[in-house]
Amino acid sequence: MKLFLDTANLLEVKEIASWGILDGVTTNPTLCSKENMPFGSLIREIANLVTGPVSVECVSNRADDIVAEALKLNQLASNIAVKIPITIDGLKATKILAAKGIKVNMTLVFSPSQALLAAKAGAAFVSPFIGRLDDISHHGMELIEQILSVYENYNFETELIVASIRHPGHVVEAALLGADIATVPFSVMEKLVKHPLTDIGIERFLQDWEKVSLK
Ligand code: E4P
Repeated sequence: MKLFLDTANLLEVKEIASWGILDGVTTNPTLCSKENMPFGSLIREIANLVTGPVSVECVSNRADDIVAEALKLNQLASNIAVKIPITIDGLKATKILAAKGIKVNMTLVFSPSQALLAAKAGAAFVSPFIGRLDDISHHGMELIEQILSVYENYNFETELIVASIRHPGHVVEAALLGADIATVPFSVMEKLVKHPLTDIGIERFLQDWEKVSLK
């Protein structure tokens, strides 16, 4: 399973990259708005820190405009994936961009039918937002299960990115279902490592090590 970091913060990317487990980064307009840096340089710097794809979102609405914007975003670095919200224009743009070999991450996906169309249009990635579904009392993980079944039925190559992750349980469930990728916020990434019994175990071993004769 690949782990992406869901952030536009350089320090967070640097830190997780240093753990040796980072496979990519996903940004969005909200995440970029929190950083006090010009957009272009911010994305270039992030893209320098990871070898995997860095998703950057298009904000245009019409297919032609989305394509033009995506082509510009794609120039920012060699490992850019352009994020396009799933709409009819988004699908049209995805078809054109995929034919040019540009990786599209179809985003704001909330149903299996949207994911099916994204794959048919040639999206390299699809991003279902499970946390936002859970927020309105739906079962986000059910959507992941459904999309995985649809993709498996037809051997689609589109990779599923479990997005809008809220806690470590989401990551574990995604892994158990066999999702290709989870994009994880920094705070959740830290929680994935922690276990109280690990901390207690380390402390106990250190205490006992004091009693070991080294002579
Ligand atoms: C995914 O690519 C999005 O950036 C992200 O996961 C959205 O998460 P949120 O619902 O916490 O904003």
